[in-house]
Amino acid sequence: MTANDGDSASSGAMLDGARATIEDYLAEERLFPPPDALRASALVNSEAIYDQAADRESFWATQAHALTWFEPWSKVLDWTPPFARWFVGGKLNVAYNCLDRHVEEGRGDKVAYFFEGEPGDQRAITYAELLDEVGRCGNALRSLGVERGDRVAIYMPMIPELPVAMLACARIGAVHSVVFGGFSAEALRDRIEDAEAKVLITADGGWRRGQPVRLKASADAALEVGASSIEHVIVARRLGEAVEAVSMSAGRDLWWDDVVATKESHCPAEAMDSEDLLYLLYTSGTTAKPKGIMHTSGGYLTQVAYTHKYVFDHLPERDVYWCAADIGWVTGHSYIVYGPLANGATSVLYEGTPDHPGRDRWWSIVERYGVTILYTAPTAIRTFMKWGAQLPKGHDLTSLRVLGSVGEPINPEAWIWYHENIGGSRCPVVDTWWQTETGAIMISPLPGVTTLKPGSATRPLPGISAEVVDEAGARLTRGGGYLTLSEPWPAMLRGIYKDPDRYEATYWSRFPGRYFAGDGAKIDADGYLWLLGRVDDVMNVSGHRVSTTEVESALVDHPSVAEAAVVGAKDDTTGQAIIAFVTLRAGVEATAEHGEMLRGHVAGKIGAIARPRTVVFTDDLPKTRSGKIMRRLLRDVAEGRVLGDTTTLADPAVVEELRTRATEQANEE
Ligand code: WT7
Repeated sequence: MTANDGDSASSGAMLDGARATIEDYLAEERLFPPPDALRASALVNSEAIYDQAADRESFWATQAHALTWFEPWSKVLDWTPPFARWFVGGKLNVAYNCLDRHVEEGRGDKVAYFFEGEPGDQRAITYAELLDEVGRCGNALRSLGVERGDRVAIYMPMIPELPVAMLACARIGAVHSVVFGGFSAEALRDRIEDAEAKVLITADGGWRRGQPVRLKASADAALEVGASSIEHVIVARRLGEAVEAVSMSAGRDLWWDDVVATKESHCPAEAMDSEDLLYLLYTSGTTAKPKGIMHTSGGYLTQVAYTHKYVFDHLPERDVYWCAADIGWVTGHSYIVYGPLANGATSVLYEGTPDHPGRDRWWSIVERYGVTILYTAPTAIRTFMKWGAQLPKGHDLTSLRVLGSVGEPINPEAWIWYHENIGGSRCPVVDTWWQTETGAIMISPLPGVTTLKPGSATRPLPGISAEVVDEAGARLTRGGGYLTLSEPWPAMLRGIYKDPDRYEATYWSRFPGRYFAGDGAKIDADGYLWLLGRVDDVMNVSGHRVSTTEVESALVDHPSVAEAAVVGAKDDTTGQAIIAFVTLRAGVEATAEHGEMLRGHVAGKIGAIARPRTVVFTDDLPKTRSGKIMRRLLRDVAEGRVLGDTTTLADPAVVEELRTRATEQANEE
């Protein structure tokens, strides 16, 4: 086996959106076979599992049997491309599988979550306690008229009430739509309206970097105009006395402590069809309107439980597991809530930022709870690299056994740093590729089996079929192309809410018969996959998906903006940074203050994650003869020069460069 064999990444322009270049990887040639100690005790330590999975349907049926079903399925898979139904006719309840069966089997006293608030408050919540609280919340929702199939929006900080609210929905058969707490009031309103949610569950706020974040105030703003489907708002108390009293609208708004805490805990779990909707989760695409990704019950829970167990080599009796993501993203849904709870895990749930009160907060958490498995994103690792290795060195991290990475390609330098400084050179790093749409991990090493190459997500998991194809859709066994999934998988999205046409067009039309992920990938001589980043107009900022079009439409929404073009430029910490090229309307002055204001405007429309790093004012945007904005050129310009962290005033050099390059390119056409 060789390390990266250095094929060229792509055949020119087609993959030019793919951000990671193979040159980035060439520097690292070391291979990392599974450490002997880990291999000896691992749940899977032989290649045989890949052979067992050759019969995919029987393999997945075996995994599904790890769950408790109220009624068996009659057929493993019904596949009418691009619509799949898994475990057809089977009945189960997701919350029952995450809670009741552990309690019934005598594990009620096991800790489900070690919660740690940012201010330092700590709470251990057992499976029995979690079950009771979920029952009370389920009864509260039922008392407010929420029935099977109704949608419930959830807009909360990372506090235990968040998984409780999700599981309560699952218990009574309601569909949750969690909206990340960092999203703006307007983004929350759009999502409530698309889902026609009946109830909103929120909190007075949460703690972030020592400051209160007033979520109820945002929720109020979201409900001020529109969002008229909301009948009630349940408000958990987190900030309490720390802030001024929140305003409660009489008849509509109810305190969690009044409506949930007073209910009885016994709450029968609905027997749901395997294909009943479990949740909607909105994600950005190539248009301004986010897509409501639909996930259902039986197949989803099967694959999140299976992957959580084998990818992290997780044993509930041995491990303390920490996925340091936010539950508001799919990573948190699948690997803080559903996967770990289905497997009876003890997890850490941490509310805040990594640098409060000190930059070693995470390492103090690992030490305090004896964390054995840590799952995070490359952007966090690169931030820790910048902060320096002395911070983790100040803590005992010897409990760690397995490290995970997700969200974007991990550069080998960050991989090695993570391996050495966090994992003490003894923990495999599993680089897991997946998406909101896939619901669960798809491409990843198995820590007791796979020889690792830093920067490669290695191979599709047993039961998963991922292939790289060329422009014409022909399968490649070597070299660069597009990543596709060639067979249906249990946790796959079942569609885009209320928009089946967009589902087909977005994922299934580019390469007929294949799911197109939107990522470029390269396959090397050993069959290892190297993810190269998005090939569409989707940016990846700190492992989060942001649509260029969405940011553009937020910009042109401002009365001073005539036109805007947004690109993602390579950034050493966040992977990509958002650069906005803006043409102002006549008479508006391009000042630094105006640029600042526009950055704030975007954050207000979408959320802080979408705030452009730089606004560049320019008189014209370079366009093709047919009027298409030349994004590639803009990206080259953005990456080719050092653009500041805020506003680049109508920099004559940038404008000049745009003009010359556009002319050159037009002449080449
Ligand atoms: C996009 C999906 C899956 C949870 C977090 C993001 C990129 C994700 C990797 C990885 C290279 C990765 C892809 C993908 N991505 N994991 N291990 N290596 N790229 O979920 O917001 O749905 O974004 O994230 O580009 O398409 P998401």
